[in-house]
Amino acid sequence: EKGGFPSFMDKEIHDQPQAVADTLLGRMDPSGRLVLDEMRIDESLLKSIDKIIVIACGTAAYAGQVAKYAIEHWCRIPVEVELAHEFRYRDPIVTEKTLVVAISQSGETMDTIMAVRHARQQGAKVIAICNTFGSTIPRESDAALYTHAGPEIAVASTKAFLSQIVACYLLGLYLAQLRGNKFQDEIRMILGELQQIPAKIQRILDETAQQVTDLAIAQKDTESVLFLGRHVGYPVAMEGALKLKELAYIHAEGFAAGELKHGPIALIDEGKLVFIVVPSKRGRDSLHAKVVSNIQEVRARGARTVVIAEEGDEEVRAYASDVIYVPASPTLMAPLLTTVPLQIFAMELATVKGLDVDQPRNLAKSVTVE
Ligand code: BG6
Repeated sequence: EKGGFPSFMDKEIHDQPQAVADTLLGRMDPSGRLVLDEMRIDESLLKSIDKIIVIACGTAAYAGQVAKYAIEHWCRIPVEVELAHEFRYRDPIVTEKTLVVAISQSGETMDTIMAVRHARQQGAKVIAICNTFGSTIPRESDAALYTHAGPEIAVASTKAFLSQIVACYLLGLYLAQLRGNKFQDEIRMILGELQQIPAKIQRILDETAQQVTDLAIAQKDTESVLFLGRHVGYPVAMEGALKLKELAYIHAEGFAAGELKHGPIALIDEGKLVFIVVPSKRGRDSLHAKVVSNIQEVRARGARTVVIAEEGDEEVRAYASDVIYVPASPTLMAPLLTTVPLQIFAMELATVKGLDVDQPRNLAKSVTVE
């Protein structure tokens, strides 16, 4: 059932092209219009929402953080992303015009269930983005948008994460279509870009995984790793750090690269391993330049810099100890690619340390207590 892979996690990392493709499948009509059959919320209500709050825990919350950039950009609706357990215990401003999006692979995370109940009590409509058909969260929500990643067995989430981002993007495009924020041909173009992602993930698995594995083996005694990113690269950095904590039990932190100078740069010393997720240069030149200068800053202080960059980005080479190239893609699509080497790095580092990558200590696949 591991399909010949040494672990479920390894299999699930390799399932990702299919998981993304399946999550996109059947969501478009022949004219290129997005159809989300499951979206059983009154269209006039969806047109009138003035705020979106994403609630989730762990990796699912990072998917929400990625989606915030896309949904705000496409729909011009403010999006807040909050950890479900924090949302529940403050006094959030939720009205009938708030759309709550609950993201959960299992659909059984108690913290998220409680937040869904809390939101509905305040009159919000809730859409569940979930991988488990018929589980509690979609059952208790007003509508469900399923990720079709297939069963995820390894505790550390991989293919569910990418599918959650895709599902959130579909939701964002659907709202943009409904509200007339975007022209149909623009939506079709973005869907076309999403459709190219599975083949690009496959190329990372085929062409880049070995380089990442070798790096993990060489770094097996590392005690602390930092991850930096900006824009959508920021939640990717946090997800990379979470994977390493979960699997390899080493200290890891993800930072917004711009925050470096406000504190975290004090952590940099000789040989410190730092991953930097670099955005594409095309279209967002200033963003790229800022991250390149962040690489320089840590490199000047002795860090070992592992740069995740787009193919063809030669500029980063000068400051990188290692460059891991991923296929070119529009900025908002990049997390679906840049996350993959970070997943592989964490898995391989745990493997070389002799740890159980499918069942890390102290963790459960679904946490059904608050
Ligand atoms: C954690 C899992 O306990 O719950 C994470 O270890 C997961 O992998 C998080 O991201 C949220 O789980 P779910 O099922 O609600 O997506």
